[in-house]
Amino acid sequence: MDATPTYDPNGFNIHSWRRRIPACERLVLMNNCSQTPQCDHTRMAAERYLESWSREVMDWDRWEEEVDALKKDFAAFINASPDEIATLTSVSEATAVLVSALTLKQRKRIVLTEAEFPCVAHIILAHGRYGLEPAWVSVRDEILHLEDYDRLIDESTLLVSATHAYYQNGYVQDIAAIAQKAHDKGAFIFVDAYQSAGVVPIDVKAMDIDFLATGTLKWMFGVPGIAFLYAKKELLPLLEPAHTGWFGRTDVFAFNPKLLDWHPTAKRLETGTWPVPAVYIARGGLQVVAEVGVDTIQAVTRPLSARLIERGRANGLKLYGTDDVTQKTPITSFLCPGDSHVAQDLMLKRGVIAPARGPVIRLAPHFYNTLEECDYAVDALADVYREPELLASTPRH
Ligand SMILES: Cc1ncc(COP(=O)(O)O)c(C=O)c1O
Repeated sequence: MDATPTYDPNGFNIHSWRRRIPACERLVLMNNCSQTPQCDHTRMAAERYLESWSREVMDWDRWEEEVDALKKDFAAFINASPDEIATLTSVSEATAVLVSALTLKQRKRIVLTEAEFPCVAHIILAHGRYGLEPAWVSVRDEILHLEDYDRLIDESTLLVSATHAYYQNGYVQDIAAIAQKAHDKGAFIFVDAYQSAGVVPIDVKAMDIDFLATGTLKWMFGVPGIAFLYAKKELLPLLEPAHTGWFGRTDVFAFNPKLLDWHPTAKRLETGTWPVPAVYIARGGLQVVAEVGVDTIQAVTRPLSARLIERGRANGLKLYGTDDVTQKTPITSFLCPGDSHVAQDLMLKRGVIAPARGPVIRLAPHFYNTLEECDYAVDALADVYREPELLASTPRH
């Protein structure tokens, strides 16, 4: 596929980046909201891990250094301190750790949105047995509305769980404004940033975020198995999660089953052995994002979104979400007339990876995708949506 540059600020060179991402040669990769492809940095990072495993067999000191370096890199990425970062294995686990640390508080209401990824909502619901009560912010007109938080956040609210970007269509919430609403009522704010980290700037201090979880699989060129939990320094002493493990202790190697103490830093939120191979690769992934820069990523992907929306409309596709490209991540979603998973398979046959989620197919280009690829993907989708095999299947609405 022709790789015409779409934007060239400060020497950003799409051609050289595409050469560093081998899968670009074979496929149109519109699945960056689900899994980013392998790149030279991440391959080299994986090889460094394999080399360490092969030569040293068990190089704990080296691995610990790698985890510390990763925390430092990720902390810088969100303007936090490394002591505020716990390394975990999934956003589900990060959410479970956090929510399990809040069950003994007096306030019981948790305000969350219908746009939360199910794992976040499910963990909150499962903690209903400890008295936590969910209060839902609705998805209206396919997005979330800031004013809808007002009647739900009150003096009984313990936590507001606000996804940064809606996983179905990329709609981006104004987190600083929601944090202000939560804090005005004495509540905490928790942000799932898995769909925004890497494509939307995040500054936990400027946004006044209390807790944030994300991983590197989506948008940030990592692999499954790694996630981060950020917790504001001042709040750390309040957090003693029931979902814990030996890595949360002051001295991990004390091996005292009767001593449940808490590490003074966010390490107290860690559980078991770190996912070391994923740690290496996550550092490589962060390097990719840092090298291009989140601002540049935003600048180069907005025209791609605009093109997908315009050409999708011209093809008669029904957009799901906002058409304001400044209010969304690079995800552009189109409602599927049949089973979206059948559509996903039919797209793959046309050489496009385009992930299904519920009622939609998401086209999610990254900085290395071209306008030509967007055109090809959206035309292929229009074609697929007319396929008799798809139309005979049941829509997942
Ligand atoms: C916004 C968001 N949060 C959480 C998850 C799930 O994270 P994990 O599988 O690490 O628990 C996903 C996607 O898989 C997601 O898009």
